[in-house]
Amino acid sequence: MRIGNKNPIYVEENLLNIFKFLRYHIGTHQKYKCLILADELVASIYENELNYLINYPYFNHVRLLKYNVDENVKNIDNIKNIWDTLSNDKFNKKDLLISIGGGTISDIAGFASATFKRGINLVIIPTTLLAMTDASIGGKNAINYKNIKNEIGTYYSPLFTYIYPNFLNSLPEIEILSGFTEIIKHALLNNKDSVREILNLDPRKLPPISILKKSIQFKHHIVRIDPNEKNRRKILNLGHTLGHCFESIRFSNHLPTSHGICIAWGLQYTIKISEYLLNFPPYWSKKIIEWLQTWYGKPPKIKFNDLLPYLLQDKKNSDDKITFILLYAPGKPKIHKFNIQELKKIYDKCFHDFAS
Ligand SMILES: NC(=O)c1ccc[n+]([C@@H]2O[C@H](COP(=O)([O-])OP(=O)(O)OC[C@H]3O[C@@H](n4cnc5c(N)ncnc54)[C@H](O)[C@@H]3O)[C@@H](O)[C@H]2O)c1
Repeated sequence: MRIGNKNPIYVEENLLNIFKFLRYHIGTHQKYKCLILADELVASIYENELNYLINYPYFNHVRLLKYNVDENVKNIDNIKNIWDTLSNDKFNKKDLLISIGGGTISDIAGFASATFKRGINLVIIPTTLLAMTDASIGGKNAINYKNIKNEIGTYYSPLFTYIYPNFLNSLPEIEILSGFTEIIKHALLNNKDSVREILNLDPRKLPPISILKKSIQFKHHIVRIDPNEKNRRKILNLGHTLGHCFESIRFSNHLPTSHGICIAWGLQYTIKISEYLLNFPPYWSKKIIEWLQTWYGKPPKIKFNDLLPYLLQDKKNSDDKITFILLYAPGKPKIHKFNIQELKKIYDKCFHDFAS
């Protein structure tokens, strides 16, 4: 299945079909070099698959760099090392960089390929649920800098993204749960039917392929109409303003908590705030919050004043206002700007609800 024309996403049940798309997008008139950046764990589980790829006959030189993945991988030293490899091996813009892994690997691959010679060919092969539904779509990439997450990055789209859902069969439950919050987020932004479908699912288990495809299509549609996040794409931050704050606070308090769980907490606040300010239907609010709490728990008891420094750091803020995505109803988002006092008042009200 192909999604989109420009920088398409292919969802395929046979990994070897990737060769067809390499031929289509890069051609066969001459051989070229390839640098593969791979998650070490993925490379060990899927050694045979990786070997098939390495032996693609149109590669005349292949290098493989493997990473033991954690958040620290997204650093400038690793980027320099990739630049050095590309430079020493005389890669040019027509050569290829391939990422195989989750969002951590696609972020360093995206950043390195965007910057080397102002952009060399990139193909992303995501292997986590989060990367398939979110990180590999839309061309954003970033590395962490001076302990700030995603501080430096670019927009740079791959030639194509190749989704082979079978990679998900080895994904641990916690990573499935974490990736699932992007699926519920897309459903909330899409429409009631999509939400209804998700509320019947257990997010510790892989979603049906139809739901995976719908989620990918939704994100692709939004980023296609607003690639540089000037307007419509901002809605994809649903649940993320507070979710990112929870993530940073838990990290500083030595209680690191997965991105997805923090976003699920952020979504609970978002729904409650939407109910108070925009009359989000209580019927849906109750159902969605119950589902989120069943699988992800209640949001942590963090006072507004402890959140504020993190809220003020958000890249999406402007004019001293804090940008929030709210919902009138499933499928009806609103970009809302709060001043600090307004936000404190409504946050405290929800805090009280969640504490009871
Ligand atoms: N650029 C974007 O648009 C964007 C969007 C969302 C998130 N991100 C970034 O993505 C990163 C998180 O990525 P992620 O959640 O995909 O996870 P990840 O890449 O950090 O990997 C999580 C864990 O899953 C393992 N893993 C990966 N694929 C596997 C598989 N198929 N089987 C078994 N184990 C596997 C990894 O080894 C690792 O232990 C963060 O750094 C975040 O900032 C970027």
